[in-house]
Amino acid sequence: MPDRRIFKHPILDFKRGEKVRIYFDGEELEVFEGENLAAALYASGIDVIRFSEKMGRPRGPFCMIGKCSSCLVGVDGYVERACMLRVREGMVVERLRGLPSLPRGSESFGCFEEFETDILIIGSGPAGLSCAEVIAPSGLDVTLVDDQPRVGGQLLKQTHRFFGSRELFAGYRGFQVARLLEERVRKYSNVRFLLETTAIGVFKEGVLLASSDKLFLAKPRSVVVATGATENFLVFGNNDLPGVMGAGGAQTLMNLHGVKPGEDILVVGSGNVGLIVSYQLLQAGSRVTCIVEALPRIGGWLVHAAKVRRYGVPILTSHTVKSAWGNGRVEGATIVRLDEKWEEIKGSEKEVECDSILLAVGLTPNVELLRQFGAAMRYLPEMGGLVALRTKYLETTVPNVFVAGDVAGIEEATTAIIEGRVVGYTILTRFLGARDEYISAREKNLALLEEYRKAPSSARIRSAWPKVLVEVKTCE
Ligand SMILES: Cc1cc2nc3c(=O)[nH]c(=O)nc-3n(C[C@H](O)[C@H](O)[C@H](O)COP(=O)(O)OP(=O)(O)OC[C@H]3O[C@@H](n4cnc5c(N)ncnc54)[C@H](O)[C@@H]3O)c2cc1C
Ligand code: FES
Repeated sequence: MPDRRIFKHPILDFKRGEKVRIYFDGEELEVFEGENLAAALYASGIDVIRFSEKMGRPRGPFCMIGKCSSCLVGVDGYVERACMLRVREGMVVERLRGLPSLPRGSESFGCFEEFETDILIIGSGPAGLSCAEVIAPSGLDVTLVDDQPRVGGQLLKQTHRFFGSRELFAGYRGFQVARLLEERVRKYSNVRFLLETTAIGVFKEGVLLASSDKLFLAKPRSVVVATGATENFLVFGNNDLPGVMGAGGAQTLMNLHGVKPGEDILVVGSGNVGLIVSYQLLQAGSRVTCIVEALPRIGGWLVHAAKVRRYGVPILTSHTVKSAWGNGRVEGATIVRLDEKWEEIKGSEKEVECDSILLAVGLTPNVELLRQFGAAMRYLPEMGGLVALRTKYLETTVPNVFVAGDVAGIEEATTAIIEGRVVGYTILTRFLGARDEYISAREKNLALLEEYRKAPSSARIRSAWPKVLVEVKTCE
C-alpha cells in the first residue's frame, strides 16, 4: 500500500516530527510523532478504523473534526475519537468491535479547576477569534476555548485567497488569516487559551469544560457561542463504506494533516465547498472523476466552477449518487440522473470507478450548548437548521449569551469575522460603557455585514434574518 501522505504541495508545507512506532490491532506501524491518529492510520492504508456496534459494518473517518464518531478506537484502554488524538511512541490502538468497555478509572477523573472569567468564548474559528481580537485590548479577562489543538476553526484548512477588502483580509489565504488573528490575540496576557478542551455542558454553576486530563468549571459574566457547524450526511446505498467522507473531513485530512483522501474521487455537491475542495484535491495530485449536483444548476460561484472545469472535471447537474460499492472500502459509485421533481430517472444509472466519495451537501449549526442555555430557537432550513433567535447585536434570548458565525446560521468566513466583531463591541459597551468608539465601530461592522449580504449568494440568509430577529431590550 503506497503512503498516502502528501510530501509535495504547491502551497502547503507539512512539517512532520520524528518517526515513532504505534500498534494497531497488534500490527506495528511507523508514523510521525504528533501526527493526527486518524490521519496516520489512513496514511498507512488502514481504511477500516472500527466496526459499527449493531451490524458490525466497517467504518472509516468521515468528519475529521470529532463530530461523527465514525473513527472511535480503543487507545490504551480508553475509547477515543482517532481524529482528535495525536500519536505518540508506543501507542496501542485497537479496532472497536461491538460495544466498548467502560474506561479504566472512570470513577475518579483527573483534576478539577474552577475559575471566573469576564468573557468565555467557545470556538476559536474566525468568529470567536475576531471577537477576542476586539475585546483583548480592553483588559477584560477573556477565556478562549477550542476542542482542536490549533486555533482557527475551518480557516486552518482553507488554502484559497479571500476576496473583498484589505480590512477583511483580501489576498490572504484562510490559514494565513487564522495565523494573523491568532498573533493579534496572543499579544494580550488577559486572554487565556484553553485548547484541546471541549465545552461539554451548561450547569447552574457555570460551563463545564473538559480536556483529556482535567475538568474546568468556568463562571463567566458573558458567553460567546462560536462553535461553527457540522457537515451533513446523505442517504444512499452503502453510504457508510470507508471512503465516503465529508468534503470538509477530506479537506482536514489533506490540508491539515497532509494525507490524500484518495486517488480517484467523486464529489457530491457543487456549492462553494464542493468546488473549492475539488480544486484543492487536484492541487494535491488526486483525480476528481466528476462532481454530481442534484440541482439543475451549479450551486457555487462560477469562478470556482471554472477552475475545476479547466482541469477537465465534468460537473453533472441534475445527478446524484444512488449507491456506493466496494469490498471493505469504496471502489465505485452508481450515479443517476434526476428529473425536475428530483425523482431518479430509471435506466439513467451509470457506474463510476472511484476510491472515495466526498459529500459537500451542506452544514448544520452546532447549537447543542445554546439549547442547554435555554436560548429560544427556530428551525430555518435557509440558515442550516435550528438556530437561536437573537437581537441585531447577536445576543440570544438568554441575557449575556451571544452567537457569532456558522452557529448563528451557515454563511462564510468573512461574515463570521464581522459577526465576531459586532459581538465584541457589544460586550465592550455592556462592560465598559457605551463609548462612542465602540458604538461607531459596531455600526460600521453592521453596515459591512449588510453590504456583504447583498450578494446573490446571500439571498437565503437575507430572507431568513427577519425570522430570527428579536428586539433589543436594553438602551443599546
Ligand atoms: C469544507 C469547507 C470549506 C469552506 N470554504 C470556505 C471558503 O472558501 N470561503 C469562506 O468564506 N468560507 C468557507 N467555508 C465556511 C467557513 O469556513 C465558515 O463559515 C467559517 O469558518 C465559520 O466560522 P466560525 O468561527 O463560525 O466556525 P468554525 O470555523 O467552524 O470554528 C468553530 C470552532 O469551534 C470549535 N468547537 C465547536 N464546538 C466546540 C465545543 N463544544 N467546545 C470547544 N470548541 C468547540 C470547533 O472545533 C472550531 O474550531 C467553508 C467551510 C467548510 C466546512
Ligand atoms: S469523529 Fe473522527 S472522523 Fe468523525
